[in-house]
Amino acid sequence: MSEETKMDEAGKETQAQGASLSGSAVLPEARSENTPTEQQAPPAAPVAKAPLKRAHILVLGNEKGGSGKTTTAMHLVTGLLHQGYRVGSMDLDGRQQSLTRYVENRQAWMEQNSVTLPMPIHTVIARSELDTVSAREADERARFEFELAKRLQACDVVLLDCPGTDTFLSRLGHTCADTLLTPMNDSFVDFDLLGRIDPENYDILGPSVYSEMVWDARKRRAISGGSTIDWIVMRNRLSTLDAKNKRRIEYVVEALSQRIGFRTAKGFGERVIFREMFPSGLTLLDLKEKGVGAQMSMSHVAARSEVRQLMEALALPLGEPSHVI
Ligand SMILES: Nc1ncnc2c1ncn2[C@@H]1O[C@H](COP(=O)(O)OP(=O)(O)OP(=O)(O)O)[C@@H](O)[C@H]1O
Ligand SMILES: [Mg+2]
Repeated sequence: MSEETKMDEAGKETQAQGASLSGSAVLPEARSENTPTEQQAPPAAPVAKAPLKRAHILVLGNEKGGSGKTTTAMHLVTGLLHQGYRVGSMDLDGRQQSLTRYVENRQAWMEQNSVTLPMPIHTVIARSELDTVSAREADERARFEFELAKRLQACDVVLLDCPGTDTFLSRLGHTCADTLLTPMNDSFVDFDLLGRIDPENYDILGPSVYSEMVWDARKRRAISGGSTIDWIVMRNRLSTLDAKNKRRIEYVVEALSQRIGFRTAKGFGERVIFREMFPSGLTLLDLKEKGVGAQMSMSHVAARSEVRQLMEALALPLGEPSHVI
């Protein structure tokens, strides 16, 4: 029986349980995009209890586009796979589908080169084309819950890659997060979605749109009896130059972290290697694998150590890997 078939059967078997997760500690209600005039009853409420042990949900989110969510997501997916964890991945960006392309490229590269590398159990949640907002949200929610439920049972960790805009699926993903990782480019333009600052002295004036959305997700999760969301902000594409800007961003990120409650992680430097591996579907953590045959430069080694440091900083509570690769 193929892996896909096994997944499908497991999915069907667990569909009833999975659907039931939606109102439990695992899947709180997400704020709807419905306008007041279109407001209708929310999609069907959950029915059964959550399984005793389920996968950890790691969400990559930031409403700012191009901050490095997908690049970071793929590195974490492969890093966790190489550690021996069973990884599920879900692309919630049904328009760009960049994580899906990354995974497809990896599959194609393996076939072309007759090399076997670990793969996530991946899916994309396509955007609904139904007529009304409420019908679209119910449709997206049902497919999201079904796919998530499969992975919660079959995997140790499920990674959700959110789009760089405020969508229903993105909000739903955020309310499910056990760990939320927010990459941001090292720029005040990116910071502006997290917090507002006084331009004179860089004092924090208050949270901004994305922080408020995370606050809302945390509140919904708490109301539904779920555990708190461990939120980590990482600065991405750190330059070796521009020291003054870097120090200022560091200052405001640290100040905001204390004000609204997130941890910070060091993140990745601005490195070409993070951009050039997409067509092969490989990441820095694959380069030493048998058959890959890549030469590691000093920059590659430094970049790989940044990824490993991030994984340590996340400190995901996963226990021992389920299987050894
Ligand atoms: N550390 C890095 N160094 C150099 N380039 C990077 C780095 N991280 C990401 N990039 C590049 O930045 C661009 C945006 O990255 P990515 O697609 O991962 O962001 P995203 O947040 O997923 O974007 P979107 O919001 O559109 O989904 C890509 O061209 C990617 O290759
Ligand atoms: Mg992306």
